[in-house]
Amino acid sequence: MPPIIEIRNLSKMYRIGAHLHKDETFRELLVRTLRKPWVRRPSPLAEATGYSDDDSIWALKDINFDVEEGDVVGIIGRNGAGKSTLLKIISRITDPTEGFARIRGRLASLLEVGTGFHPELTGRENIYLNGAILGMRKAEIETKFDEIVDFGEIGRFLDTPVKFYSSGMYVRLAFAVAAHLNPEILVVDEVLAVGDLAFQKKCLGKMSEVSQGGRTVLFVSHNLAAVQSLCRKGVVLKEGRLVFNGGANDAVDHYMQMVSGPGETSHANVVDLSRAGTRNRKYRPLLRRLELLTDNGVPLLGGIPIGAPLKALIHFRLESPTPSFDVGLGFDNLYGQRIFSAHSAYEPKRVHEVREGEQVFVCEIPQLTLTPGEYKLVAWVEISGGVVDLVEDAARLTIGESDFYGTGKVPRSGTCALENHWRLQ
Ligand SMILES: Nc1ncnc2c1ncn2[C@@H]1O[C@H](COP(=O)(O)OP(=O)(O)OP(=O)(O)O)[C@@H](O)[C@H]1O
Ligand SMILES: [Mg+2]
Repeated sequence: MPPIIEIRNLSKMYRIGAHLHKDETFRELLVRTLRKPWVRRPSPLAEATGYSDDDSIWALKDINFDVEEGDVVGIIGRNGAGKSTLLKIISRITDPTEGFARIRGRLASLLEVGTGFHPELTGRENIYLNGAILGMRKAEIETKFDEIVDFGEIGRFLDTPVKFYSSGMYVRLAFAVAAHLNPEILVVDEVLAVGDLAFQKKCLGKMSEVSQGGRTVLFVSHNLAAVQSLCRKGVVLKEGRLVFNGGANDAVDHYMQMVSGPGETSHANVVDLSRAGTRNRKYRPLLRRLELLTDNGVPLLGGIPIGAPLKALIHFRLESPTPSFDVGLGFDNLYGQRIFSAHSAYEPKRVHEVREGEQVFVCEIPQLTLTPGEYKLVAWVEISGGVVDLVEDAARLTIGESDFYGTGKVPRSGTCALENHWRLQ
């Protein structure tokens, strides 16, 4: 049998600044999808204009691989590696510049929030519309309808236009639709970054059900544990090129080696602090390394949702026997305001003993409830209460939106989300 997805010499060039290939509207997408072209050809516009190299970037360069029917493939890579671009081409949201992706089957995709649904239509109408795009008859969709609404937990918002949905609700419904409408190929891009933890688990469960039913799944995630548990195969992208194609576990190993190597920027989950350029010259380099992990020790890549746990391992060196040392970890917003500091001296069970040489302090924050956005981590070492080493902007941390309160109301204003309870008296 021929592969269900065949990717040949696929390249995608984006013009920086000018959004020539900016995402189409849903209407355009619908029209094109209904035409069902089997092969995507290079866009004539991109061919004709021939940009020079300096105002364009290759988001994908010469990608070749096949996906067999029933394969569950994890696609991993750092931010900007080209993962979403690859899924968009496979889903026919955007055209390749060179090469093609041949698809043999009905495909449903859940890409970044904003694609796939028509904002003016209600949840109910979008379910029918998506079913129609997948070539299903009304009666077929009706048999799945209740399951979709249940899974998506949108209940009384069913007849509300989806433009009024919170991002959590939107993703829940989009995932429910993509997973329940019996596609032969299911394409999912990083949905787990948006939902709350309970919903993430539910999605993973559903995806594993879909894959066990023999259907083909392509799954992009920064959650390596999820990739390992869900996928049998793995593809690693690096700067637009395919650098590994094989088993999922081997793909994750390959990726881990890649990101823990030298020369990686501060978005990696393991950061070398020994030669950090953001260290003030007046300090001796005692801080060695910062490692960021989330749930169950999973490397933190690409960010965590509001309220998720964070575990930081701070590796540092003490040059002589030292009785009194502490480590701090500050969270600054991009304006440089300190939003929160964690500090070993805040730990009531902190044991003081004389130490020398390489040390690791483990800092655990059970619920990191900063509001969505990007934060700069500042790490420092104190001896006898005085700062002896400090690295500004040691790493960047992205907090993503999540249904923290369980109501679909994402906390966005202010700097942090705290539990709050209300009752009418
Ligand atoms: N519409 C666009 N216009 C210009 N450049 C783009 C566009 N979309 C993506 N790019 C660029 O293409 C490259 C690949 O982006 P892509 O979104 O595919 O990465 P990714 O692997 O999905 O990253 P992430 O993990 O952050 O989601 C990046 O350098 C990105 O800035
Ligand atoms: Mg992406």
